[in-house]
Order: sequence, then C-alpha cells, then structure tokens
Amino acid sequence: MKKQLDLPGLALGCWPLAGMTRAGVTREAAVETVAAAIDHGITHLDTAYCYGENGESERAIAQAIKGRQNEVTIASKCGIHWQVGKKQTVNGHPDRIIQEVQESLDRLQLDRLDLLYLHTPDPNIPIQESAGALRRLLDEGTVRAVGLSNGNVEECRLFAETCPLSACQRHFNMLQQEIGPELLPYCQSKQMAMVTYWPLMKGLLTGKMKRDQVFSQTDSRHKYPMFRGEEFQKNLDFVETIQSLATQQNMTLVSMVLAWTMAQKGITTVLFGATSAKQVAANAQALGCHLDDSIILSINEAIQQRGPILGGRKV
Ligand SMILES: NC(=O)c1ccc[n+]([C@@H]2O[C@H](COP(=O)([O-])OP(=O)(O)OC[C@H]3O[C@@H](n4cnc5c(N)ncnc54)[C@H](OP(=O)(O)O)[C@@H]3O)[C@@H](O)[C@H]2O)c1
Repeated sequence: MKKQLDLPGLALGCWPLAGMTRAGVTREAAVETVAAAIDHGITHLDTAYCYGENGESERAIAQAIKGRQNEVTIASKCGIHWQVGKKQTVNGHPDRIIQEVQESLDRLQLDRLDLLYLHTPDPNIPIQESAGALRRLLDEGTVRAVGLSNGNVEECRLFAETCPLSACQRHFNMLQQEIGPELLPYCQSKQMAMVTYWPLMKGLLTGKMKRDQVFSQTDSRHKYPMFRGEEFQKNLDFVETIQSLATQQNMTLVSMVLAWTMAQKGITTVLFGATSAKQVAANAQALGCHLDDSIILSINEAIQQRGPILGGRKV
C-alpha cells in the first residue's frame, strides 16, 4: 500500500559528506555535520548507495545517528554504483537493487529504510522491472515508502503501475528550474512528495565563490559549465543581485535562497548539502524566514533577467 510521506521542508543531503563534491571532507567533519543537522531540527537525511565509492556517506550517517535513530528519517537510493576507475554506472536490475539495499542497511546499521528511491531510471532495463524489486522490498517491510529520482512523468506513471510511489526527487534551484510543467501537478494530484536537490547550486548561491575562483581537479565543480568563463561571471552577477536583496531584508543570502526554494508551489522538501556544522547552522536559519510576495517578485525578476544558463541538466 502507498504510504503518504510527511517529509519536512528542509533536509540534509549527504552527498558532499562523502567527499563527492570536493575531496578532503574528513569522517569527523561528516559526522559533525549530520549531528549538527539533527541538533538544529533537520532530521530527514538523504543519502544513496553510491554516495562515496565505498558507501562513505551511509557509514558516516550510521556513526552520527548512533543512539539517535529515533530522531531521524532516512532516505537512500539504489541503482547506481561505482566501477573500478571512478566511473558511476547505472544498473537497475532487480538482483542488483536487492543486493545494494542490503548493503546500504548494513552500512547504515538499520533494519529498514524510511524511504528508498530508484536513483535514476536505467535506460537498459524496463522501469517496471526495477519497480518490481522496490515493490518486493516495500511488501516485505524492508522499506516504508518508495520514490523515483530523476524520472519524468511518463516514467513515474509506468513505475507506479508496479510499485506505489510516495516521492519524486529532481534538481531545482533559482537558476535551474527544469522540473517541467507536468511533474509537479502530477505529484500533487497523487499526493506524492516533491523533493528537490542542488538548492545552492553546489555552493554558488551561497556567495562564497570568488570572481577568480579556480576549482582544483579534486573539486567536481570544475566539470560544470556554470562554473566556467563568462557563464560563471554572469552567475556571480546574479548572486550579487540576490545578496543585495537579502541585505535589504536583513537576511543572509543562504537563508533567502533556501527560503525562496521552500516557498515554491508544489515543492515539499528541499535537500541542501553541507560539509560542516557551521554550514548547517547557517542554512538552518532559513527555517525561520518568511519572504513576502513583493520580495519573491523581485527575486523572480532577477531570475528572469539572468535568463537561461548553461549547465541545465536534462532528466
Ligand atoms: N537524486 C539525485 O540524483 C541527486 C543528485 C545530486 C544531489 N542529490 C541530493 O541533494 C543534496 C543537495 O545537493 P548538493 O549537495 O549536490 O548541492 P547543494 O545543496 O546545492 O550545495 C551543497 C554545497 O554547498 C556548499 N555549502 C552548503 N552550505 C553552505 C554555507 N552555509 N556556506 C557556504 N557553502 C555552503 C558546500 O560546499 P563545499 O563542499 O565547498 O563545502 C556543499 O557541498 C545532495 O547532498 C544529495 O543528497 C541528489
């Protein structure tokens, strides 16, 4: 039976904890980051089998929630793994899914997951077959609810013929609004949660990036067009505009960015990544922020002025 999820508005995404956005995040910092999130009332944690080549994200979460398991809800994802040579591979074969979920539970030291997503549809396997494996896990009680990440409406429909869907996960931020016109209404009509990622555009919308920023080879952001050349400079112009709106409102930039994202119609949960307790504390301030209609209008005008950006991700 489908479970209607009651996810909170703001949640911690645990990809950067595994040193995936940039190398050099220690286990100690990862554990402190998760603990700080729980301390600030951010108790939904989003991870995946492939967050870290050896499940570093899930292992750090296990360490951080020891004795606090009742305080958190945990989502993980299956269907992407690492191959030798640092290559992420999509595999939604049912056998592979069952094996990954067992490994995720072992790493997390849990008996069951609150939410399990298929990380992305596998183009080589009919989605109903992947959905069948998640249905099995749902029926046997290994997972409480199931979601589809990076899927479109048609894929959601096909998936839901085999396994009840409680959530969708897609990227969304001020400059990357590619969810499309159909998916949000579909989720609303089916009482599904819409969980979004990259609200901070991998750090760009926090205002911490410098005009002459150089990303090292161990910082995955060097691969994205929005962090390069003229495109990057235009994005920084946009950040300056939002920063001045935030200053006028006596708000931090990061609070304004997260509060705007949470205020978008149809979005139920916003996942932000972080690599320190300090970042979590700054981002948690967004929980107490309200943006009135006139400021939302000014932000939307700035977004329109910036126009389409390079690096939009098609899903
Ligand atoms: N379903 C999917 O396919 C999918 C794909 C991507 C992400 N996700 C999920 O969504 C979550 C969010 O995405 P994301 O982590 O990639 O991107 P994000 O939330 O847009 O950005 C996170 C990055 O912003 C920086 N940051 C955060 N708070 C900050 C603060 N207060 N001050 C300065 N910098 C700050 C950190 O950079 P530094 O690393 O430089 O400290 C962090 O790595 C992920 O963690 C993951 O759980 C899902």
